[in-house]
Amino acid sequence: MIKEESIQKLLDQVDIVDVVSHYIPLRRSGVNFVGICPFHDDKNPSMSVSSNLGIFHCFSCKAGGNAIKFIMDYEKLSYPEAIEKLAALSNFTLEYSAKGAPVKEEKHILAKVGAYYQSLLYKTPAAIEYLYSRGFDDALIAKFELGYAPTSQNTIHLLENEKIEPNEALDVGIVKQNDRGFYASFVERITFPIKNHTGKIVGFGGRTITNHIAKYVNSPQSRVFDKSQILYAYDVAKKSAYDKKELIITEGYMDTIMLHKAGFTNAIAVLGTALTDKHLPLLRRGDTRIVLCFDGDEAGINAAIKSSRLLTINELDTSVVILPNGLDPADLVQKGDLRGLEKALENRVEAGEFLIKSIISNYEISRPQQKQKALEEVQKYTFELKPVVADAYKGVVSRALNIDINSFFLSKFKRVQNEVKKTQAPNLARKRDYLELEILKTCFMDKDSFKTGLDLCEKEIFATHFDIYEAVFSSQKSQKQVDLLRELAIDDSVNTLNNEKKLYDGIKMLKEKYYQSLLKELAKSSDADKIDKIVKIQKILRRLKGAK
Ligand code: CTP
Ligand code: MN
Repeated sequence: MIKEESIQKLLDQVDIVDVVSHYIPLRRSGVNFVGICPFHDDKNPSMSVSSNLGIFHCFSCKAGGNAIKFIMDYEKLSYPEAIEKLAALSNFTLEYSAKGAPVKEEKHILAKVGAYYQSLLYKTPAAIEYLYSRGFDDALIAKFELGYAPTSQNTIHLLENEKIEPNEALDVGIVKQNDRGFYASFVERITFPIKNHTGKIVGFGGRTITNHIAKYVNSPQSRVFDKSQILYAYDVAKKSAYDKKELIITEGYMDTIMLHKAGFTNAIAVLGTALTDKHLPLLRRGDTRIVLCFDGDEAGINAAIKSSRLLTINELDTSVVILPNGLDPADLVQKGDLRGLEKALENRVEAGEFLIKSIISNYEISRPQQKQKALEEVQKYTFELKPVVADAYKGVVSRALNIDINSFFLSKFKRVQNEVKKTQAPNLARKRDYLELEILKTCFMDKDSFKTGLDLCEKEIFATHFDIYEAVFSSQKSQKQVDLLRELAIDDSVNTLNNEKKLYDGIKMLKEKYYQSLLKELAKSSDADKIDKIVKIQKILRRLKGAK
């Protein structure tokens, strides 16, 4: 756990304007900075960032909060992940409480070993020449921090020099152990550091350049490395993927890196495994479409079939690209066949359709019994989909099986449970009452004024902004109230009343306005106690006038 004081210190130290402008351009506007909001489709700069308040706020989509919140939302990180990112950006050393500190990783063993591997690459002619021969250039090697793992002995020496205990190295998968002692996990291999989505190294992949029978090895499964959960290059691809709203998944390191070389900077890879449901959280992060771009061989096609099922059942918008002639993406880039690659990507097939067609292709549908079985297997799949999605495949199934479109169904006839999102209440352009807003802002921003406000103000006098009144003075604030108050705080068209007298006068004025309007209403009404009430109100008004 990160210590609470440490988080506070970090927030005190950073300027949110620096943090936000690390991600999006900002320009000064009055006391605040403004920019195009990255959290909705923004046309004009709707986002304000306040150095003094340490907050950002979008006047259009209401996204907002402090610097940590900005990083959480922008990078799709959890709260602790965002704090660590912010600390890294600001060269700030966080303090952890003993419990739950990222054990050992404090020593950055993997980063140190990775740097060592990197330093050896250009000193090892066979290694660097291998990479050049596969179409790598220096920029690509640097971007993916490729390295070279030497002999086992040399790695063990490095660990000794760095004062890393063998057991610590074992724990993060750099060495393994047998009855003769410790030995390096990666020997005479090109190394690919594998990072988690926050950009921290959690393991390595290694490709032999000496024709070792294992073409690739990965870090062993460990506390820090779970290959059924990690996606290679996610950290470098995510920005581009979020921008393009599309994530390309390949089968290998080489494929991913070569796609980046060809400009597909939104490519990532699974690590020699199928996609599993443990990958889903990462795949859902960016709200991107997914393109499966696997090898055009039998293994690749089978992986595409399995993955299509997993992803579509989990409601991810997925397509499948099958490359021609058993090629993989790296082959196409290395051959210089970018046109072929682009073509293949354009000819992607929607994953449900791909899966349904591949199911049907296993049956001899000229035979009626087989046709029926094929339909049943398709239905077994589509019953797992949301009804609207399932029904979208009726045309595909009817054509592929050559059956009447009204002779079968694809969705379970479950009642659709309130799937329709509540449409947002129309944002009625409400007229603003600046006196009300100034009083409320003052009460919100200043402790003494808050007490004054609590003593003197009744809710009724805030005829226009009663919702903000409630937000300011309620002790348990809803998210909507928090958003409202942040907006009020950062809105520099609303001044604060900067001394007690101004606040008193303001409240008095508002009350007078309220009672005057009550009088007007009463005059029109046919209330039996009309006269009594009018007298009462006039009394209140006189008292208000008299008050200093
Ligand atoms: N893989 C593995 N162990 C192997 C072979 C493959 O872990 N013995 C994993 C690696 O993550 C590799 C991926 O499966 O990146 C794809 O394997 P493959 O298609 O065989 O490799 P290529 O990507 O074609 O690599 P290269 O071009 O270097 O042969
Ligand atoms: Mn391959």
